[in-house]
Order: sequence, then structure tokens, then C-alpha cells
Amino acid sequence: MSSADPQGLQAFPEALADRDAWLEPFDWYREMRDDSPVRYDASRGSWDVFRHADVKRVISDDEAFSVNPRTASDFEGLSGEGEGLILDTMLFQDPPRHDELRAVVDDAFSPRTVAEMEPRLRDLMRELLDDALAANDGEMDLVEEISYPFPVIVIAELLGVPAEDRAQFKEWSDSLVAAASDEEIAERQQQSQQEMAMYFLDQLQQRREEPRDDLLSTIATAELDDGSKLPQEEALGMCMLLLIAGNITTTNLITNAVRCFGNQGVLSELAGDDNAIGPAIEEALRYRAPVQAMTRIARSDVNLGDATIEEGDRVVAWLGSANRDERAFDDADEFVVDRAPTGHLGFGHGTHYCLGAPLARLEARVALSELLSLDGLALADADLSPTRSSFIYGVESLPIRYDGR
Ligand code: HEM
Repeated sequence: MSSADPQGLQAFPEALADRDAWLEPFDWYREMRDDSPVRYDASRGSWDVFRHADVKRVISDDEAFSVNPRTASDFEGLSGEGEGLILDTMLFQDPPRHDELRAVVDDAFSPRTVAEMEPRLRDLMRELLDDALAANDGEMDLVEEISYPFPVIVIAELLGVPAEDRAQFKEWSDSLVAAASDEEIAERQQQSQQEMAMYFLDQLQQRREEPRDDLLSTIATAELDDGSKLPQEEALGMCMLLLIAGNITTTNLITNAVRCFGNQGVLSELAGDDNAIGPAIEEALRYRAPVQAMTRIARSDVNLGDATIEEGDRVVAWLGSANRDERAFDDADEFVVDRAPTGHLGFGHGTHYCLGAPLARLEARVALSELLSLDGLALADADLSPTRSSFIYGVESLPIRYDGR
């Protein structure tokens, strides 16, 4: 496990090691669901679970499975600094600590609070699209121009990062998601993460002294159930988590949705029909889920299907496979634009159900509704490369064509 891989998800199963296989892993999932729905992969030292009912149980049965990587029998600590920073966040904590931490930011991400952000998000999206149209001529990379910068700008604004620091903030965010292809890059990443940490600590200190109406103030001044203040390290960890969990995932939701709509030939059908865009995005979340897998650790020996998973074993729950399970969805391998699926696991399920789901849905709906207003919008011909991650699913770039506005 590395610092960028607290879940031990870095290693691909052999069947997906080839980059093209990771563009379309869905046939392999089907084979696994039918032939080996719960299997142990000795080469990665973990279990894989593929069927909807089993995946749902693994990610939501808090009694049987833990999210805390430290409980894994093969846990050796994370490389680099900042192990506690990440592992002490809600994503890797079980109840009751989880619930206490999540309560700090729950209101800020509630559907009601998020709905009020729509006009501002629309302004931000229009600005971004105007800039992209001015810089390009009839063709652009959707990821670079729209789906990548948009969530970064939105979370910076929500946290309350001052406008003059936005460019620096985006650079730090870039480094959080960039693949560390060699030692020099890894070192630079560590350095920029440290700079970011120092920056957040300073911002949090300012908010403690003089709270404002922003998320940094909420986090800086949060009180826990016993009346104590959220420790500084954990406040910092929460800021980092919001960036790590919310940016590249939303980028890929926007990109994957355009890819699905383009392949299905429904881009013009959806244009101007804002009521249809929400359900269509939901189907994209099911069909090409930005998060394909999540890990849990067995808390004691657990029977699942025909297998017995031993205490301390790691279990990879394949959300992306659960979403294509015929046992849960009719014609699961068909993209049905108006299916409006319920019960998909694109945002997880249970205690750790995605905190940012209302925000991600709103961002995607605003982005899609503005993008679809372009005349003649279509996917451009291109060889697609999958995102460099074994659990985040999407493409590194998606060229699109358009005639104008
Ligand atoms: C948790 C997916 C956007 C913050 C999760 C989980 C999934 C997920 C699958 C469950 C993890 C688990 O069970 O172990 C997604 C997808 C997104 C998205 C597909 C975009 C399309 C966001 C955004 C934010 C966010 C925008 C915040 C700004 C979180 C947090 C958790 C989480 C804090 C941990 C919740 C907990 O442990 O209680 N997300 N997410 N996510 N997500 Fe998201």
C-alpha cells in the first residue's frame, strides 16, 4: 500500500491489467458474476466480490466489515508522511467515530443546502464554457476545459479559498491526482501536498480567530459530541478528504455522462430538456460508475456465498459490477437513457454513502445542461485512454466537436 492507496486498490486484477481492458471491464465482470462471484485472488492478497447483493452487503454491513485499513492483517502502514491525516478521516473510520466526524459537515452537503447553490454553479459553469469556447475552435478536450476544472473551482469556492489563491489551489489539486510516475515526481507531489497542508492550517487558524460564512469556518470551529474542538490534524484531514474524494470523481461523472450520451446518440435529444438530464446522469452513474471499487476488511470470519472470508482479510467490492448485475437491473448491459435507475451503487450504500452525492449530481446536471446547449455537439473520433487508477473509472481526455453556441 502507498500513501496514495490506503485501500490497497492500486494493484489491478490480472484480467484488467491491460489498459484497454480497463476501458471496458464489463464483460469480465459478467464472467465473474456468473462463475466466481466471491473469489480470493492470491496475487493481490484480497477477495473480490461481484454480485449486487453481495457488494451491497460488504459495503454496508458495518458489523461484519470495517473501512479501517489498519484492521487488515497485512497492513504495514502507509509510505510517506500523513498516514494519520488520511486514515483518521470519516472515510476510513467506523462508527461511532465516523458518525461524529461526518456530523461536522453533513449540513453543509445536505440536498437543501446544495440546491441553493445552483445559480452560482451555473454562473461558474457559463464562465468556464465561455473561456473554453474563446480558446478553442470547433473542437476541445472536455476533460481539460470543463470536467476537470469545474469541481475544483466549486469546492474552492465552497471552502472559502480566497479568489487570489485559486490558481495556486488548482496546482495543488492537480498534484494530488497526478500519477507519480517516477521518484522525482513523487517527491514534488509530497512537497506540494505539504505546502497545501501548511496553507490549510493557516486558513483554518484564521477562521478559528474570525469565522466567516464558509466551509473552512464550519470545520475550524466544529465541536464534537463531548464538547471538545475537532483537533487541528483532523480538521486538516477533512479538508484534504473533500478534495480527494470530490474532484476526480465528479470530473469522471461529467466525462462519462457525455461519453454515454454521445455513444447512445442522445446528445441532441437531451438538449434543452433539463427534466430528462437528471435521470440520464443517474443512468450514467450506474452504467459507467466513476468509482468502480471500494475496499473493506472482515472484522471476524464471514460467510459470503460459498466462501468463508477470514478475519483481517481485505475484500474488494466491485460497485461497477454490481451496477451491471442482471439480478438487480433488467437488461443491465444496456444504457437506457430514461431508465432513472434506483438501487445502483455508484455512490456506495449505508453509513459511508457519499457525502457529496447531492453536490456531484448538481454539478453534473449544471455542466451537462450548459454543454448540451452547444449546437452540433458530438464526440470527436479519438483513441480513448482510461484514467490511471484501478478504482476511479473514466478517460484521460474526451475530445468533443461543436458548431457554435
Ligand atoms: C464517499 C463516490 C463526489 C465526498 C463516497 C463513496 C463513494 C463515492 C462510492 C463511498 C465510499 C465507501 O463506501 O467506502 C463518489 C462519486 C462522486 C463523488 C461517484 C462523483 C460523481 C463527491 C463529492 C464530495 C464527496 C463532490 C465532496 C465534496 C465524499 C466523502 C465520502 C464519500 C467525504 C466519505 C463518506 C463517509 O465515509 O461517510 N463517494 N463521490 N464525494 N464521498 Fe463521494
